[in-house]
Amino acid sequence: MTSRPVDADIADLALARLGRERIAWAGAEMPVLASIRERFEAERPLDGLVVGVCLHVTTETANFLKTLKAGGATVLACASNPLSTQDDVAASLVADEGIATFAVKGESHERYYDHIDAVLDGHPQLTMDDGCDLVSRLHQSRPHQLEELIGGTEDTRTGVIRLRAMEAAGVLRYPIVAVNDAETKRLFDNRHGTGQSTIDGIVRATNILLAGKRFVVAGYGYCGKGVAARARGMGALVTVTEIDSMRALEAVTDGFEVAPMAAAACKGEVFVTATGNCQVIRAEHFAEMRDGAILANAGHFDVEVDLVALGRMAGGRRRLVRPMVEEFTLESSDGSTRSLLLLAEGRLVNLSVAEGHPAAVMDLSFANQALAAEWLATARGRLANRVHDVPTEMDARIAELKLETMGIVIDLPTSSQMAYLAPWTSGT
Ligand SMILES: NC(=O)c1ccc[n+]([C@@H]2O[C@H](COP(=O)([O-])OP(=O)(O)OC[C@H]3O[C@@H](n4cnc5c(N)ncnc54)[C@H](O)[C@@H]3O)[C@@H](O)[C@H]2O)c1
Repeated sequence: MTSRPVDADIADLALARLGRERIAWAGAEMPVLASIRERFEAERPLDGLVVGVCLHVTTETANFLKTLKAGGATVLACASNPLSTQDDVAASLVADEGIATFAVKGESHERYYDHIDAVLDGHPQLTMDDGCDLVSRLHQSRPHQLEELIGGTEDTRTGVIRLRAMEAAGVLRYPIVAVNDAETKRLFDNRHGTGQSTIDGIVRATNILLAGKRFVVAGYGYCGKGVAARARGMGALVTVTEIDSMRALEAVTDGFEVAPMAAAACKGEVFVTATGNCQVIRAEHFAEMRDGAILANAGHFDVEVDLVALGRMAGGRRRLVRPMVEEFTLESSDGSTRSLLLLAEGRLVNLSVAEGHPAAVMDLSFANQALAAEWLATARGRLANRVHDVPTEMDARIAELKLETMGIVIDLPTSSQMAYLAPWTSGT
């Protein structure tokens, strides 16, 4: 336990013990991050740096923040979503790690931004963001602090989209590493992590049987592929909606029905959005849905299900029927009524209802984050103010380390295979 008091706004410090135990439980599934932490302890690559973190405050993130601290950084943390904070983890970060933490599950929009401001008040030199709210707030409200920044990282697709828009507009004022786009991130975290934990969130919220259910997944990107595969694995009959013909073709050849949302709306019993886009399910779709249809979102922001239209169509006829399940009653033109069930206020269902991704995949994501932080610290002043990919050697090294921890050995190319692959002249 640390006796050093730190700034904090958390739900309840008394939850620290539970948080500590759960953080250790997750840590046991994160051997790659643990090996990086051990090296960081010895080498201190982040010595003296102030790191501002805006991530989901979960057990896995706590293991990552311990790694930054081991590397010599002073860490300030806030949540990247108002519903995703695990209050026991926030308590342990403050009580056990002495990390200034500003995160409360269920915080209001205003308090969410107060917490981002609290992190920015600490004058971070590195930002580690999930969704770009921290970076966007910094650029918009504190331009005078921007020269203090040496770099940042971004964890999710939506954040990378926003950052690339900033770069294109010529306003991005420091280099950011797009951790989301590393293969060891999106092939595992987005696909397997979101796939499993989204199903987990839906089942925890509703306890429904998925076998035989008509299940609609909007978006067949990294996340949508994982959700669709897991839903099918549970016996659901899955339809995919897309706006990208390549991804739609991929879905149909993976064996899924592909249809526009207008056609899927009247059939689906469970809907999951994973697009990073807005108003994917909207008034014209709600009007067609069956009684009891369940609406869930796995995309970063709560804009994929049109909540304004849903609220308007229900008028005052909405009530909480289970924790995190809100029933909206809609009246049809013939006077009959139907209920639509919205999970987790349309926010990330996997982090709001379940516990987010399993630690074993976050091991890879946070290994990327830790090595990207080290890269930014060592390349200080040498990287252009744009969005950078994770270097491919770093990505490959993380995959190697993970395989090592899993005890999996792979073949190495023989010298004749290397010689065969090198020249371009030999053919048939
Ligand atoms: N829940 C989580 O824990 C978690 C984890 C990782 C990423 N995310 C978020 O999930 C979202 C998707 O991430 P991704 O990595 O799969 O991105 P992606 O770009 O790989 O996939 C998004 C897909 O949605 C499709 N799409 C866009 N608009 C659509 C529409 N109106 N209808 C149907 N399809 C549409 C796109 O064509 C694309 O194929 C992002 O917001 C990302 O930040 C959430």
